[in-house]
Amino acid sequence: MTDVHARFAHVLTPIQLGSLTVRNRIFVPAHTTSFGIDHLPSERHLAYHRERARGGVGAIIFESIRVQSNCLGRPQAVGGFTRDCIEPFSRIAAAVRAEGARLLGQVIHLGRQVDGDFERTVSWGPSPVRWSGTSAMPHAMTEDDMQTVIDGHVATARNLVEAGLDGLEVQLGHGHLLQQFLSPLSNAREDAYGGSLENRLRFPLAVVAAVRAAVGRDFCLGIRVSGDEFVDGGLHLDEVCTAVAALAQAVPLDFVNVSHSAYHASYSLATQMADMAFDPQMFRHLPGAVRRRLHDSGHAVPVMSVCRYDTLAEAETIIAQGETDMVGMARAHLAEPALVAKTLAGREDEIQPCIACNQGCAGMLEKNMPIRCVVNPRAGVENEWPVPATRARPSLGTCW
Ligand SMILES: Cc1cc2nc3c(=O)[nH]c(=O)nc-3n(C[C@H](O)[C@H](O)[C@H](O)COP(=O)(O)O)c2cc1C
Ligand code: SF4
Repeated sequence: MTDVHARFAHVLTPIQLGSLTVRNRIFVPAHTTSFGIDHLPSERHLAYHRERARGGVGAIIFESIRVQSNCLGRPQAVGGFTRDCIEPFSRIAAAVRAEGARLLGQVIHLGRQVDGDFERTVSWGPSPVRWSGTSAMPHAMTEDDMQTVIDGHVATARNLVEAGLDGLEVQLGHGHLLQQFLSPLSNAREDAYGGSLENRLRFPLAVVAAVRAAVGRDFCLGIRVSGDEFVDGGLHLDEVCTAVAALAQAVPLDFVNVSHSAYHASYSLATQMADMAFDPQMFRHLPGAVRRRLHDSGHAVPVMSVCRYDTLAEAETIIAQGETDMVGMARAHLAEPALVAKTLAGREDEIQPCIACNQGCAGMLEKNMPIRCVVNPRAGVENEWPVPATRARPSLGTCW
Protein backbone atom coordinates (compact mmCIF):
# COMPACT_ATOMS: atom_id res chain seq x y z
CA MET A 1 0.00 0.00 0.00
CA THR A 2 1.39 3.41 -0.94
CA ASP A 3 1.57 6.21 1.63
CA VAL A 4 -1.36 7.99 0.08
CA HIS A 5 -3.46 4.84 0.08
CA ALA A 6 -2.66 4.27 3.74
CA ARG A 7 -3.51 7.89 4.56
CA PHE A 8 -6.90 7.68 2.86
CA ALA A 9 -7.66 4.02 3.42
CA HIS A 10 -11.34 4.58 4.27
CA VAL A 11 -11.98 7.17 1.56
CA LEU A 12 -10.45 4.94 -1.10
CA THR A 13 -12.31 1.77 -0.17
CA PRO A 14 -15.01 1.17 -2.80
CA ILE A 15 -18.54 1.10 -1.48
CA GLN A 16 -21.61 -0.89 -2.40
CA LEU A 17 -24.85 1.10 -2.66
CA GLY A 18 -27.17 -1.84 -3.16
CA SER A 19 -26.08 -3.40 -6.42
CA LEU A 20 -24.01 -0.37 -7.41
CA THR A 21 -20.27 -0.30 -6.77
CA VAL A 22 -18.74 3.14 -6.33
CA ARG A 23 -14.96 3.43 -6.62
CA ASN A 24 -14.44 5.62 -3.52
CA ARG A 25 -16.35 7.39 -0.76
CA ILE A 26 -16.37 10.92 -2.18
CA PHE A 27 -19.38 12.21 -4.10
CA VAL A 28 -20.61 15.48 -5.53
CA PRO A 29 -24.03 16.22 -4.00
CA ALA A 30 -26.85 17.54 -6.17
CA HIS A 31 -26.53 21.22 -6.93
CA THR A 32 -28.74 23.17 -9.27
CA THR A 33 -26.65 24.94 -11.88
CA SER A 34 -29.16 26.83 -14.05
CA PHE A 35 -27.39 25.33 -17.07
CA GLY A 36 -30.62 23.78 -18.39
CA ILE A 37 -32.07 24.76 -21.76
CA ASP A 38 -35.78 24.26 -22.42
CA HIS A 39 -35.89 22.35 -19.11
CA LEU A 40 -33.44 19.77 -20.46
CA PRO A 41 -29.82 18.99 -19.58
CA SER A 42 -27.37 20.86 -21.80
CA GLU A 43 -23.85 20.52 -23.23
CA ARG A 44 -22.76 22.77 -20.40
CA HIS A 45 -23.97 20.18 -17.90
CA LEU A 46 -22.06 17.50 -19.76
CA ALA A 47 -18.75 19.35 -19.75
CA TYR A 48 -19.19 20.39 -16.11
CA HIS A 49 -19.91 16.90 -14.80
CA ARG A 50 -17.34 15.16 -17.01
CA GLU A 51 -14.65 17.42 -15.56
CA ARG A 52 -15.63 16.51 -11.98
CA ALA A 53 -15.82 12.80 -12.81
CA ARG A 54 -12.35 13.06 -14.35
CA GLY A 55 -11.20 14.74 -11.14
CA GLY A 56 -11.61 11.47 -9.28
CA VAL A 57 -14.91 11.49 -7.36
CA GLY A 58 -16.76 8.21 -6.90
CA ALA A 59 -20.21 9.50 -7.76
CA ILE A 60 -22.02 12.62 -8.91
CA ILE A 61 -25.64 13.30 -8.05
CA PHE A 62 -27.15 15.38 -10.82
CA GLU A 63 -29.07 18.48 -9.70
CA SER A 64 -32.74 18.37 -8.69
CA ILE A 65 -34.76 16.85 -11.53
CA ARG A 66 -38.34 18.07 -11.45
CA VAL A 67 -41.11 15.51 -11.71
CA GLN A 68 -43.96 17.78 -12.85
CA SER A 69 -44.41 21.00 -14.78
CA ASN A 70 -45.87 22.71 -11.71
CA CYS A 71 -42.54 22.55 -9.88
CA LEU A 72 -40.17 23.63 -12.64
CA GLY A 73 -39.73 26.99 -10.97
CA ARG A 74 -36.98 28.73 -12.89
CA PRO A 75 -36.65 28.61 -16.71
CA GLN A 76 -33.30 26.80 -16.60
CA ALA A 77 -34.53 24.08 -14.24
CA VAL A 78 -34.29 20.51 -15.53
CA GLY A 79 -37.34 18.26 -15.74
CA GLY A 80 -37.38 14.50 -16.08
CA PHE A 81 -41.03 13.77 -16.75
CA THR A 82 -40.94 14.00 -20.54
CA ARG A 83 -39.18 11.48 -22.73
CA ASP A 84 -37.05 14.08 -24.51
CA CYS A 85 -34.80 14.16 -21.43
CA ILE A 86 -33.63 10.60 -22.06
CA GLU A 87 -31.14 11.34 -24.83
CA PRO A 88 -29.29 14.24 -23.14
CA PHE A 89 -29.21 12.39 -19.83
CA SER A 90 -27.83 9.27 -21.49
CA ARG A 91 -24.95 11.27 -22.96
CA ILE A 92 -24.08 12.79 -19.58
CA ALA A 93 -24.27 9.39 -17.87
CA ALA A 94 -21.98 7.89 -20.51
CA ALA A 95 -19.47 10.76 -20.17
CA VAL A 96 -19.35 10.42 -16.38
CA ARG A 97 -19.03 6.64 -16.54
CA ALA A 98 -16.25 6.89 -19.10
CA GLU A 99 -14.23 8.68 -16.42
CA GLY A 100 -14.84 5.90 -13.89
CA ALA A 101 -17.48 7.67 -11.79
CA ARG A 102 -21.21 7.03 -11.36
CA LEU A 103 -24.06 9.36 -12.22
CA LEU A 104 -27.12 9.39 -10.01
CA GLY A 105 -30.18 11.61 -10.32
CA GLN A 106 -32.26 13.41 -7.72
CA VAL A 107 -36.01 13.32 -8.30
CA ILE A 108 -37.97 16.09 -6.68
CA HIS A 109 -41.19 18.00 -6.32
CA LEU A 110 -40.46 21.35 -4.75
CA GLY A 111 -43.94 22.06 -3.42
CA ARG A 112 -44.87 25.36 -1.91
CA GLN A 113 -41.77 27.40 -2.65
CA VAL A 114 -42.35 27.32 -6.39
CA ASP A 115 -44.36 30.45 -6.99
CA GLY A 116 -45.21 29.50 -10.57
CA ASP A 117 -44.29 32.93 -11.96
CA PHE A 118 -42.34 31.54 -14.90
CA GLU A 119 -44.60 28.63 -15.82
CA ARG A 120 -47.86 30.22 -14.64
CA THR A 121 -48.60 27.28 -12.36
CA VAL A 122 -50.19 27.09 -8.94
CA SER A 123 -48.04 26.50 -5.88
CA TRP A 124 -48.76 23.15 -4.18
CA GLY A 125 -48.26 22.09 -0.59
CA PRO A 126 -49.78 19.92 2.10
CA SER A 127 -51.56 22.91 3.67
CA PRO A 128 -52.16 26.60 3.02
CA VAL A 129 -49.02 27.61 4.93
CA ARG A 130 -46.59 29.99 3.21
CA TRP A 131 -42.83 29.47 3.43
CA SER A 132 -42.19 33.22 3.72
CA GLY A 133 -44.25 36.31 4.42
CA THR A 134 -44.39 37.30 0.76
CA SER A 135 -44.56 33.92 -0.97
CA ALA A 136 -47.57 32.44 -2.76
CA MET A 137 -50.17 30.77 -0.56
CA PRO A 138 -50.00 27.08 -1.53
CA HIS A 139 -53.02 25.13 -2.65
CA ALA A 140 -53.66 22.32 -0.15
CA MET A 141 -53.19 19.18 -2.19
CA THR A 142 -56.01 16.69 -2.65
CA GLU A 143 -55.49 12.95 -2.87
CA ASP A 144 -55.82 13.26 -6.66
CA ASP A 145 -53.03 15.85 -6.64
CA MET A 146 -50.91 13.48 -4.58
CA GLN A 147 -51.46 10.73 -7.11
CA THR A 148 -50.21 13.00 -9.91
CA VAL A 149 -47.06 13.68 -7.89
CA ILE A 150 -46.53 9.94 -7.42
CA ASP A 151 -47.08 9.44 -11.17
CA GLY A 152 -44.58 12.23 -11.92
CA HIS A 153 -41.92 10.60 -9.73
CA VAL A 154 -42.53 7.24 -11.38
CA ALA A 155 -42.41 8.62 -14.94
CA THR A 156 -39.24 10.58 -14.16
CA ALA A 157 -37.58 7.58 -12.52
CA ARG A 158 -38.41 5.39 -15.50
CA ASN A 159 -36.98 7.95 -17.94
CA LEU A 160 -33.77 8.23 -15.93
CA VAL A 161 -33.36 4.47 -15.70
CA GLU A 162 -33.84 4.29 -19.47
CA ALA A 163 -31.22 7.04 -19.88
CA GLY A 164 -28.71 4.79 -18.12
CA LEU A 165 -28.24 6.64 -14.86
CA ASP A 166 -26.62 4.49 -12.20
CA GLY A 167 -28.97 5.36 -9.37
CA LEU A 168 -31.57 7.74 -8.00
CA GLU A 169 -32.18 9.72 -4.86
CA VAL A 170 -35.71 10.80 -3.88
CA GLN A 171 -35.60 14.25 -2.32
CA LEU A 172 -37.25 14.14 1.10
CA GLY A 173 -35.07 16.93 2.45
CA HIS A 174 -34.30 20.65 2.17
CA GLY A 175 -37.92 21.61 2.81
CA HIS A 176 -39.25 20.48 -0.56
CA LEU A 177 -42.69 18.93 -1.01
CA LEU A 178 -42.11 15.58 0.70
CA GLN A 179 -40.46 17.28 3.66
CA GLN A 180 -43.36 19.74 3.74
CA PHE A 181 -45.59 16.74 4.41
CA LEU A 182 -43.18 15.37 7.01
CA SER A 183 -42.75 18.60 8.92
CA PRO A 184 -45.24 19.84 11.52
CA LEU A 185 -44.20 23.33 10.45
CA SER A 186 -45.77 23.08 7.00
CA ASN A 187 -48.28 20.24 7.45
CA ALA A 188 -51.45 21.30 9.25
CA ARG A 189 -53.66 18.63 7.72
CA GLU A 190 -56.35 16.93 9.74
CA ASP A 191 -56.75 13.92 7.46
CA ALA A 192 -54.69 10.70 7.22
CA TYR A 193 -51.68 12.73 5.98
CA GLY A 194 -51.32 15.08 8.95
CA GLY A 195 -50.94 14.97 12.71
CA SER A 196 -48.88 12.02 13.93
CA LEU A 197 -45.48 11.22 12.42
CA GLU A 198 -46.99 8.06 10.96
CA ASN A 199 -49.57 10.17 9.14
CA ARG A 200 -47.07 12.84 8.00
CA LEU A 201 -44.86 10.08 6.62
CA ARG A 202 -47.69 8.43 4.69
CA PHE A 203 -47.36 10.41 1.45
CA PRO A 204 -43.51 10.55 1.30
CA LEU A 205 -43.49 6.81 1.94
CA ALA A 206 -46.02 6.20 -0.84
CA VAL A 207 -43.79 8.15 -3.25
CA VAL A 208 -40.62 6.24 -2.31
CA ALA A 209 -42.46 2.91 -2.48
CA ALA A 210 -43.85 3.74 -5.94
CA VAL A 211 -40.40 4.72 -7.22
CA ARG A 212 -38.91 1.52 -5.81
CA ALA A 213 -41.64 -0.52 -7.49
CA ALA A 214 -40.95 1.28 -10.79
CA VAL A 215 -37.15 0.87 -10.80
CA GLY A 216 -37.04 -2.65 -9.32
CA ARG A 217 -35.06 -3.96 -6.34
CA ASP A 218 -31.75 -4.19 -8.21
CA PHE A 219 -31.53 -0.54 -9.16
CA CYS A 220 -29.69 1.77 -6.73
CA LEU A 221 -32.28 3.91 -4.92
CA GLY A 222 -31.80 6.13 -1.91
CA ILE A 223 -33.30 9.16 -0.23
CA ARG A 224 -32.08 12.56 0.84
CA VAL A 225 -33.36 13.89 4.15
CA SER A 226 -32.84 16.88 6.38
CA GLY A 227 -31.54 15.62 9.71
CA ASP A 228 -32.74 18.83 11.35
CA GLU A 229 -34.75 21.77 10.10
CA PHE A 230 -33.13 24.08 12.65
CA VAL A 231 -36.46 25.88 13.22
CA ASP A 232 -38.54 25.93 16.39
CA GLY A 233 -41.57 23.73 15.87
CA GLY A 234 -39.98 21.97 12.92
CA LEU A 235 -38.44 18.54 12.41
CA HIS A 236 -35.60 17.58 14.70
CA LEU A 237 -33.10 14.80 14.63
CA ASP A 238 -34.88 12.23 16.78
CA GLU A 239 -38.08 12.39 14.73
CA VAL A 240 -36.09 12.26 11.49
CA CYS A 241 -34.24 9.16 12.70
CA THR A 242 -37.59 7.52 13.48
CA ALA A 243 -38.97 8.45 10.05
CA VAL A 244 -35.88 7.15 8.23
CA ALA A 245 -35.95 3.84 10.12
CA ALA A 246 -39.66 3.45 9.28
CA LEU A 247 -38.94 4.17 5.60
CA ALA A 248 -36.10 1.64 5.53
CA GLN A 249 -38.39 -0.91 7.15
CA ALA A 250 -41.09 -0.36 4.52
CA VAL A 251 -39.00 0.12 1.36
CA PRO A 252 -35.55 -1.27 0.55
CA LEU A 253 -33.15 1.69 0.52
CA ASP A 254 -29.60 1.61 -0.81
CA PHE A 255 -28.43 4.82 0.86
CA VAL A 256 -29.60 7.72 3.01
CA ASN A 257 -28.09 11.10 2.23
CA VAL A 258 -28.30 13.24 5.37
CA SER A 259 -28.37 17.00 4.88
CA HIS A 260 -30.31 19.58 6.92
CA SER A 261 -32.52 22.73 6.66
CA ALA A 262 -36.00 23.58 5.48
CA TYR A 263 -37.23 25.99 2.87
CA HIS A 264 -38.31 28.44 5.50
CA ALA A 265 -37.73 32.17 5.62
CA SER A 266 -35.44 31.96 8.59
CA TYR A 267 -31.96 30.94 9.64
CA SER A 268 -32.91 27.40 8.50
CA LEU A 269 -32.56 28.07 4.76
CA ALA A 270 -29.11 29.57 5.23
CA THR A 271 -27.84 26.36 6.83
CA GLN A 272 -28.38 24.30 3.65
CA MET A 273 -25.44 25.90 1.85
CA ALA A 274 -23.80 27.13 5.01
CA ASP A 275 -21.43 29.98 4.25
CA MET A 276 -18.27 31.03 6.05
CA ALA A 277 -20.27 32.42 8.97
CA PHE A 278 -21.28 28.91 10.09
CA ASP A 279 -19.25 26.43 12.09
CA PRO A 280 -19.56 23.19 10.06
CA GLN A 281 -19.33 21.20 13.30
CA MET A 282 -22.99 22.00 13.93
CA PHE A 283 -23.92 19.53 11.16
CA ARG A 284 -21.45 16.71 11.82
CA HIS A 285 -23.56 14.77 14.36
CA LEU A 286 -26.55 14.35 12.02
CA PRO A 287 -25.44 11.49 9.73
CA GLY A 288 -24.00 9.47 12.62
CA ALA A 289 -27.29 9.61 14.54
CA VAL A 290 -29.27 8.48 11.47
CA ARG A 291 -26.72 5.76 10.77
CA ARG A 292 -26.87 4.41 14.34
CA ARG A 293 -30.68 4.34 14.31
CA LEU A 294 -30.66 2.49 11.00
CA HIS A 295 -28.12 -0.04 12.25
CA ASP A 296 -29.98 -0.47 15.57
CA SER A 297 -33.18 -1.20 13.67
CA GLY A 298 -31.47 -3.84 11.56
CA HIS A 299 -30.95 -1.78 8.39
CA ALA A 300 -27.26 -1.30 7.68
CA VAL A 301 -27.93 1.25 4.96
CA PRO A 302 -24.93 3.38 3.89
CA VAL A 303 -25.23 6.99 5.03
CA MET A 304 -23.87 10.13 3.38
CA SER A 305 -22.73 13.31 5.11
CA VAL A 306 -22.50 16.79 3.55
CA CYS A 307 -21.76 20.44 4.07
CA ARG A 308 -18.50 22.31 4.22
CA TYR A 309 -16.11 19.43 3.77
CA ASP A 310 -13.00 20.76 2.08
CA THR A 311 -10.38 18.01 2.20
CA LEU A 312 -10.03 14.26 1.88
CA ALA A 313 -8.40 14.29 5.30
CA GLU A 314 -11.65 15.53 6.87
CA ALA A 315 -13.57 12.87 4.95
CA GLU A 316 -11.13 10.17 6.05
CA THR A 317 -11.52 11.14 9.72
CA ILE A 318 -15.33 11.13 9.82
CA ILE A 319 -15.62 7.87 7.89
CA ALA A 320 -12.99 6.25 10.12
CA GLN A 321 -14.99 7.38 13.18
CA GLY A 322 -17.99 5.44 11.87
CA GLU A 323 -20.13 8.58 11.61
CA THR A 324 -20.79 8.25 7.88
CA ASP A 325 -20.06 5.98 4.92
CA MET A 326 -19.60 8.62 2.22
CA VAL A 327 -18.78 12.32 2.19
CA GLY A 328 -20.28 14.85 -0.21
CA MET A 329 -18.42 17.90 -1.44
CA ALA A 330 -20.45 20.17 -3.72
CA ARG A 331 -18.87 23.61 -3.54
CA ALA A 332 -15.41 22.16 -2.93
CA HIS A 333 -15.75 20.59 -6.40
CA LEU A 334 -17.08 23.73 -8.00
CA ALA A 335 -13.91 25.41 -6.83
CA GLU A 336 -11.60 22.46 -7.56
CA PRO A 337 -12.85 19.73 -9.89
CA ALA A 338 -9.66 17.68 -9.44
CA LEU A 339 -9.72 17.74 -5.64
CA VAL A 340 -9.48 13.96 -5.31
CA ALA A 341 -6.92 13.42 -8.08
CA LYS A 342 -4.64 16.22 -6.90
CA THR A 343 -4.76 14.97 -3.31
CA LEU A 344 -3.90 11.44 -4.35
CA ALA A 345 -1.07 12.73 -6.55
CA GLY A 346 0.45 14.58 -3.59
CA ARG A 347 -0.42 17.93 -5.18
CA GLU A 348 -2.58 19.28 -2.37
CA ASP A 349 -0.83 22.62 -2.55
CA GLU A 350 -2.36 23.11 -6.04
CA ILE A 351 -5.94 22.65 -4.83
CA GLN A 352 -8.05 25.77 -5.13
CA PRO A 353 -10.17 25.71 -1.96
CA CYS A 354 -13.76 26.87 -1.77
CA ILE A 355 -13.94 29.89 0.53
CA ALA A 356 -17.65 29.39 1.41
CA CYS A 357 -18.54 32.85 0.14
CA ASN A 358 -21.66 31.67 -1.76
CA GLN A 359 -21.30 34.58 -4.17
CA GLY A 360 -20.71 32.75 -7.44
CA CYS A 361 -22.77 29.62 -6.75
CA ALA A 362 -25.78 30.16 -4.47
CA GLY A 363 -25.71 33.89 -5.20
CA MET A 364 -26.10 33.41 -8.95
CA LEU A 365 -28.73 30.74 -8.45
CA GLU A 366 -30.85 33.19 -6.48
CA LYS A 367 -30.68 35.54 -9.47
CA ASN A 368 -31.77 32.70 -11.83
CA MET A 369 -28.36 32.90 -13.48
CA PRO A 370 -25.96 30.04 -14.29
CA ILE A 371 -23.77 29.31 -11.30
CA ARG A 372 -20.14 30.42 -11.29
CA CYS A 373 -17.35 30.26 -8.78
CA VAL A 374 -15.44 33.19 -7.39
CA VAL A 375 -12.21 31.20 -7.16
CA ASN A 376 -12.58 29.05 -10.30
CA PRO A 377 -13.39 31.00 -13.45
CA ARG A 378 -13.70 27.77 -15.49
CA ALA A 379 -16.64 26.46 -13.44
CA GLY A 380 -19.59 26.13 -15.77
CA VAL A 381 -17.67 27.25 -18.84
CA GLU A 382 -15.46 24.19 -19.27
CA ASN A 383 -16.27 24.06 -22.99
CA GLU A 384 -15.28 27.68 -23.54
CA TRP A 385 -12.11 27.40 -21.47
CA PRO A 386 -11.05 23.88 -22.38
CA VAL A 387 -7.52 24.01 -21.04
CA PRO A 388 -7.19 24.01 -17.26
CA ALA A 389 -5.51 27.17 -16.12
CA THR A 390 -2.14 26.51 -14.54
CA ARG A 391 -1.21 28.63 -11.62
CA ALA A 392 2.35 29.79 -11.38
CA ARG A 393 3.78 28.81 -8.03
CA PRO A 394 5.21 31.70 -6.07
CA SER A 395 8.77 31.38 -4.92
CA LEU A 396 9.76 32.93 -1.61
CA GLY A 397 9.91 36.64 -1.98
CA THR A 398 7.57 36.80 -4.97
CA CYS A 399 5.25 39.73 -4.77
CA TRP A 400 1.65 39.06 -5.95
C1 LIG B 1 -25.56 26.38 -6.03
C2 LIG B 1 -26.13 25.26 -5.21
C3 LIG B 1 -27.25 24.59 -5.66
C4 LIG B 1 -27.78 23.53 -4.92
N1 LIG B 1 -28.83 22.82 -5.43
C5 LIG B 1 -29.24 21.69 -4.79
C6 LIG B 1 -30.17 20.81 -5.40
O1 LIG B 1 -30.59 21.01 -6.54
N2 LIG B 1 -30.59 19.75 -4.69
C7 LIG B 1 -30.11 19.46 -3.45
O2 LIG B 1 -30.52 18.47 -2.84
N3 LIG B 1 -29.17 20.25 -2.87
C8 LIG B 1 -28.71 21.32 -3.52
N4 LIG B 1 -27.71 22.08 -2.97
C9 LIG B 1 -27.13 21.70 -1.65
C10 LIG B 1 -25.91 20.80 -1.84
O3 LIG B 1 -26.28 19.52 -2.28
C11 LIG B 1 -25.15 20.63 -0.52
O4 LIG B 1 -25.96 19.96 0.41
C12 LIG B 1 -24.69 21.95 0.08
O5 LIG B 1 -24.13 22.77 -0.90
C13 LIG B 1 -23.68 21.72 1.20
O6 LIG B 1 -22.57 20.98 0.72
P1 LIG B 1 -21.16 21.69 0.31
O7 LIG B 1 -20.69 22.44 1.51
O8 LIG B 1 -20.28 20.53 -0.05
O9 LIG B 1 -21.43 22.60 -0.83
C14 LIG B 1 -27.18 23.16 -3.69
C15 LIG B 1 -26.03 23.83 -3.26
C16 LIG B 1 -25.50 24.87 -4.01
C17 LIG B 1 -24.27 25.57 -3.51
S1 SF4 C 1 -18.47 30.82 -5.30
FE1 SF4 C 1 -17.56 30.82 -3.25
S2 SF4 C 1 -18.82 29.37 -2.07
FE2 SF4 C 1 -19.33 29.03 -4.22
S3 SF4 C 1 -17.96 27.33 -4.76
FE3 SF4 C 1 -16.89 29.22 -5.33
S4 SF4 C 1 -15.64 29.73 -3.53
FE4 SF4 C 1 -17.13 28.20 -2.88
